[in-house]
Amino acid sequence: MKTGVIARYRDFLPVTDHTPPLTLNEGDTPLIRSRRLAELLGVPELYFKYEGTNPTGSFKDRGMVVAVAKALEAGSRAVICASTGNTSAAAAAYAARAGLEAIVVIPRGKIAGGKLAQALIHGARIVAVDGSFDDALRIVRTLIERHPLALVNSINPHRIEGQATAAYEIVDALGDAPDVLCLPVGNAGNITAYWEGFKRYHRAGRASQRPRLFGFQAAGAAPIVLGRPVERPSTVATAIRIGNPASWQRAVRARDESGGRIEAVTDEEIVDAYRLLASHEGIFCELASAASVAGLRKALANGWLDGSERIVCVLTGHGLKDPDTAIRLGGRPEPVPPRVEAVEAYLGL
Ligand code: F0G
Repeated sequence: MKTGVIARYRDFLPVTDHTPPLTLNEGDTPLIRSRRLAELLGVPELYFKYEGTNPTGSFKDRGMVVAVAKALEAGSRAVICASTGNTSAAAAAYAARAGLEAIVVIPRGKIAGGKLAQALIHGARIVAVDGSFDDALRIVRTLIERHPLALVNSINPHRIEGQATAAYEIVDALGDAPDVLCLPVGNAGNITAYWEGFKRYHRAGRASQRPRLFGFQAAGAAPIVLGRPVERPSTVATAIRIGNPASWQRAVRARDESGGRIEAVTDEEIVDAYRLLASHEGIFCELASAASVAGLRKALANGWLDGSERIVCVLTGHGLKDPDTAIRLGGRPEPVPPRVEAVEAYLGL
């Protein structure tokens, strides 16, 4: 039964007897064994950690539940974050659940419609700045110094600890850590969280090994790959449209300690992987999420991996967050007269 991450992983989280038992039954997401894509790529053991089934449709819920519970415990009245969309949706939902005010600062016109809808309907105060995510985060960092607002971006260590529960779940499901974990990288909190999680579980004797982490940025927003901030990040994968990630150094450490890589994938490669996941596996994820699979294809093509590894790709968010993109890429259906013969003619039956 889903109990939420605080109840399930209490011993591994910074919770006390005074931490409110906040939950929307997040976590416990499926680890789906790949069939057709695995065959296509020639990798015998591939899994998808599908985070789209979380209550607000992304992995952010894992960290947000802990961050908001700790904010409540500390007596905060309001939470604030900068976001490319998913963090704001999670912050708005968990703040509503907890009876706190939420303020979300987003780059105007650059977040998917579903995510904006979530923040709106949960009653967050939304500030749409004419700038990038990086501008939004810079503003939020200053606001928390001036006002009694609890920061719930992944700079908040409780977010990272909550997100580490995804690593615990993977080990619990497989009976050990995989050899390789592929995931998209934006603000770099999630790669940091996975690495913390795998290390901690390994130390606790729950896993015999730690995976190599393969992180993927979008080519137009790949500061870690380039080794310098990107002034005007650009990619179709708006969730990871970030030019100066907050957890940059920690991501580099996770890469190096794990013997992994952080590389770039083009928008075209991301879109191809997004389509393949939907058409060959029945999994509808976000464009940004598909960067993990685009990256895996690249890693196999370049010989960074030989395919014999046990591999997990993290699919960070649900495709329904952004139906406009799917419809644009899929092509809108043409109108057909409401007659059997017309439908037969249209289908060529
Ligand atoms: N995938 C999705 C769907 C995301 O929303 C994000 C980040 C990432 C991957 C990258 O994770 O930032 O931890 O490296 N979204 C943040 C947000 C930035 O505001 O929702 P990261």
